[in-house]
Amino acid sequence: MATAPVTGLTVEYQPAPLAVATPAPRLSWLPGRTQSAYEIEVRAGGGLVARTGRTPGRESHLVEVPGLRVRSDTDYEWRVRVWDQDGAVSDWARDRFGTGLFDAADWTARWVLPRTRPTEVERWTLLDWIKGNRPERDAGERLFPVRLLRQRFTLDTPAARARLFITARGVYTAEIDGAAVGDEVLAPGFDSYASRVSVQCYDVTDLLGAGDHVLGVALADGWWAGRIGLTGSSAQFGTATGAIWQLHVETADGRRHRISSDGDVVAADGPWTHADLFIGERFDARLHDPRWSRPAFDDTAWNPVGTETADPAVLVPFAGEPVRRVGELPALSVTADPGGGWIVDFGQVIAGRVRLTLRAPREGDVVTLEHTETLDADGRWFRNIEGINKDQCDTYVAAGLPTEVWEPAFTFHGFRHVRVRGVDAPPDPGDLVAVVLSSDLRQTGSLRLSDERLDRLHRNVLWSQRANFLSIPMDCPQRERAGWTGDIQVFAPSASNNALVAPFLTRWLDNLRADQYADGRIPITSPRSAYDDELAESQSRFGSIVACAGWSDAIALVPWVLYERYGDRRVLADTLDAALRWIDHQRTAAAELPERLRDVPLAPERQRRQALLYNAGEHFGDWLTPSTLEGRPLHEAIGTAPRLTAELVAPMFQAQTLTVTARSADALGRTGLAAGLRERAARVRAAFAAEYVDAEGRLPVALQGPYVLALAFDMVPDERRPLLVGHLVDLITARGDRLDTGFLSVPYLLDVLWDSGHAELARRLLWQDRCPSWLYEVDRGATTVWEAWDAIAPDGSVRAVSFNHYAFGCVDDVLYRRLAGIRATAPGFRSVVIEPDLAGRLDHAEAAVWTPYGQVRVDWTVTGDTAAIRVDVPHGVEAALVVGGRSTPLAPGTHDLRTAVPTASGHPAAARRRRNSSSETSSR
Ligand code: BGC
Repeated sequence: MATAPVTGLTVEYQPAPLAVATPAPRLSWLPGRTQSAYEIEVRAGGGLVARTGRTPGRESHLVEVPGLRVRSDTDYEWRVRVWDQDGAVSDWARDRFGTGLFDAADWTARWVLPRTRPTEVERWTLLDWIKGNRPERDAGERLFPVRLLRQRFTLDTPAARARLFITARGVYTAEIDGAAVGDEVLAPGFDSYASRVSVQCYDVTDLLGAGDHVLGVALADGWWAGRIGLTGSSAQFGTATGAIWQLHVETADGRRHRISSDGDVVAADGPWTHADLFIGERFDARLHDPRWSRPAFDDTAWNPVGTETADPAVLVPFAGEPVRRVGELPALSVTADPGGGWIVDFGQVIAGRVRLTLRAPREGDVVTLEHTETLDADGRWFRNIEGINKDQCDTYVAAGLPTEVWEPAFTFHGFRHVRVRGVDAPPDPGDLVAVVLSSDLRQTGSLRLSDERLDRLHRNVLWSQRANFLSIPMDCPQRERAGWTGDIQVFAPSASNNALVAPFLTRWLDNLRADQYADGRIPITSPRSAYDDELAESQSRFGSIVACAGWSDAIALVPWVLYERYGDRRVLADTLDAALRWIDHQRTAAAELPERLRDVPLAPERQRRQALLYNAGEHFGDWLTPSTLEGRPLHEAIGTAPRLTAELVAPMFQAQTLTVTARSADALGRTGLAAGLRERAARVRAAFAAEYVDAEGRLPVALQGPYVLALAFDMVPDERRPLLVGHLVDLITARGDRLDTGFLSVPYLLDVLWDSGHAELARRLLWQDRCPSWLYEVDRGATTVWEAWDAIAPDGSVRAVSFNHYAFGCVDDVLYRRLAGIRATAPGFRSVVIEPDLAGRLDHAEAAVWTPYGQVRVDWTVTGDTAAIRVDVPHGVEAALVVGGRSTPLAPGTHDLRTAVPTASGHPAAARRRRNSSSETSSR
C-alpha cells in the first residue's frame, strides 16, 4: 500500500536550484507521515550516480547521500521515497538541481579590466567624520562613469542548454542582445573579496538562438572600489573594477561551446556618469543607446580592455539568495518643501530606491532624488544620516522623450522620504514608486498578536530585517551597511523565525571565517577590508577595536542558532575550528590584566583567577546602554557603556562561547573536546563569580545588563541566583519599569525575568511605552526598529541616528516564543513546546514557524476564563502543549483544544481581564 506522498523537495534549502554551491549537496523533503526509512537516487544524463538503498531512519532534512560528489556545471535529477511506520512505501517524488563551478580547472576566463584610470583612493578617518570634514570636489568630479563591456559571439545552432557564470570586482548587470540576464540586483554582492568573490549562474538558454550575439556587461564600483563603511572611504578592496565570465553553451547538435571573458572584449563609458552605493548615481539619458548590447551596434570606437589571470581559488559559487526587488510601495503624499522641491512620503522606512516616471521632460532637464528616513519635528526636510559620501542622492538627466522611466541600477538607499528637485510641477504620486531591495529569502514565519502596538512592533522588526539582510547582514542600510558581527549575533534568533536564513547566514559565516586573523581573532565586521585594519590601528579606545566580546563571539553563537532552529550540522562542522581558534585567542588574551589591576599587588589565587578571565582590552561592552547616554551628546556619552561594562561582559561571553562551542562539539560527536571546553567554562565561571559577585549577589556595576547576562549565562552558583534576580528587579523598578539594557544583554532581559518567576514584570517591560521601550518607538510612528530608543525624543525632536537597526528588534524572538508560544526544545524542532501566554495581556495570537518537517502553527483565543487553542504539528516533530505548568503531548496533526486560562503568577485570571479592560494597562 502506498503511504502519503513526499513533498517539499529541496537541495541545500532551495527547491530545484540552478547551481548549488557545494559538491556535496544535502537533500531534504517532507514525508507525508512519520518516516521510518527512506531511499534516494541521484542521476545525471540518465545514469545513476548515487543511491542510498533503503535506509532506516527518520532523517528527511539535509540528508547527505554517501558517495555523492557532484560535478561542476551539471544537471542532476534526484528522487526519494519513504516508508512510514507501518512499512507502507510512498511513490517516488522527484526534482532536479544544477551545479556551480567547483574546480580550479573549470576556469579558463581572464578578468577583463575596462577602465584605464583607477578609482580615486579616498581615505577618511573617524575623526574626519566627527569633525564634519567633507570631500572638496563634487561626486561628479571624483567618480568615473560606469563602464560598458561588449563581447560578440556567434552560434550556428540554437542553444539547448546555456549557463552564464559571471562575477565582478564591483557590481554589474548583464544583458544578451538587449535582454536583461536574470533579475538579480547588485550582483555579485558583498564578500571578503580578497578570499572570495561569488560567481552567479544564470540560465540563458532562451536568449541564445542561432546567429550573432552580444554579451553586454555594465560595471560599477560597488563594494569593491566604491565608498563604503562609516568613513565612506573608497577603493577598500581595489582600485580597478573588473568582470569575469564563462558562457557554457550546449547546442542542439550536442556540441559544447565556451565563451570566456578575454582580450576580445571592448569597453566604453555608459550613460551612468557616476554610480556609487552610498553617494548614489547619475544617469544621463541623453548618453543612453539601448542598442549597446545588440549585435547590430557599431562598437568600432570602443576601447580594448586590460586582462588579468584569474585565481580560481577566489571564485566561489554564490550560495543562498541574491538581492532582488522584493516589493514596491506607492507614494502616499507629495508636499512642497519650503526649501525647494517636493517631499514624497512612502510611509515606510526601507532599503531600496525610487523608480521615477517623467512626463514630457525637456532634453537636459536635471531631476534629483534625495533620500532620508525621517523628516524633522515640523515635517521639514531633515537628513538623519550625515557623513562623508553619504549623499544618498540620485540624479537623472532627461533625454526629452514623451515618457521616461528610470530606476537606479548600481545603488540603494535607506529612506522613507524622498525630495524631488528639478521638476516644475508637483510630481504625480503615481509617478514615484519605492522599490524595496533585499536578499530574497524565503519568508517562512508569521506572527499576529491581538495587541495592535505589539503587532506593529513585529512588523517593524520584519522591515528592519528585510532592509538589513541585503547581501550581508548589515547594521543599518544608510550610514555603515557593515556586517557588524555583534548586531547579527543578537538578532539571529529573531531572524530565523521570520525567514529561512540558513543559506544567507552560512555564506556570511564563510566570509567571517575567511576574515579571521592568524592569531584567532574574529573581526567585529565582515566582510572586512585592509583599510578597516589600518583605521583601527590609527585609533584609540573603542575605535581601535578589531575583535571583541559579544561581537567576535558571533563565530560560535550564530552557527549554533542555525543548528538550534534548522538542525544544520554542517554549519557547525564548518565553523567549529574557527570558534576554537577564537577561544584560543581569548585564552591567550586572558593573561592580560584589566588596566585597573595592573599596578595592584594580587594574591596568587587572584592572579590565577584573573589569568583565566578574558577581561582586559577594549570592548564595546553592553553598547548603547540607555542610562549611559541620557542627557549627553552621543559622541561624548557613547564610550561610557564600554568603560563601565567591558570588564564584566567580556568574561561572561567568554564563558558562554565555551559552553555553546562545547554543545557544538557534542552535536558533532566530539565528546572529548566538548568535555574539555565545558571544564574550562566551569573554571571561567567560578573565577568570574569569585572576582565579581559579592556575598550579597551584587556585581560591581549597578546596571541591568550585567545582571541579565550573569543570570542568562549562569555565571553565579545557584544559591546566589535569587540575590541577583532581586537586584535586577530592583534596578528595573528604580527605572520605573523601564529597560536599561544595551546591545548584548537586551536579547536575554525578558527571558531571564520570565524564567525567574517575574513574567509579569517582563510583560510590563514589553508593554512599557515610556522611553526607552519598544512601544515608545511604535507610538512615535516607527516603521522599523531604531538604533537609539530616543531617535525621536519625547519632545518630538529628531536625532541624526539610524532609524533602521535591527539589533534591538531581537525582542521579536520573545514574541514568538513567549507570547504566541512556539519554542524548539531540540535542535531543528525535532521537539517543540507550545506554551501560549494565556495568563498575559493578549486575547489572541497566531504564529507559524518553519521547521525542517513542515510548519508548526499555533492559533489561540482567550474568551472569559477559557482559551481555545489550535495547534498544527507536522510529522517528525514531537510536540507538547504546556498550559499552567501542565504538559500534554500532541501527536502529529491538527489539534483543537479548549482549556481554562491559568492564573498568572500572583494574579488570578479575573484580575488579568480587569487589567486588560481598564486603563491600568496603559502606563502612560
Ligand atoms: C554600528 C553598530 C555596531 C557598533 C559597534 C555602530 O556604529 O552601527 O550597530 O555594532 O557600531 O559598536
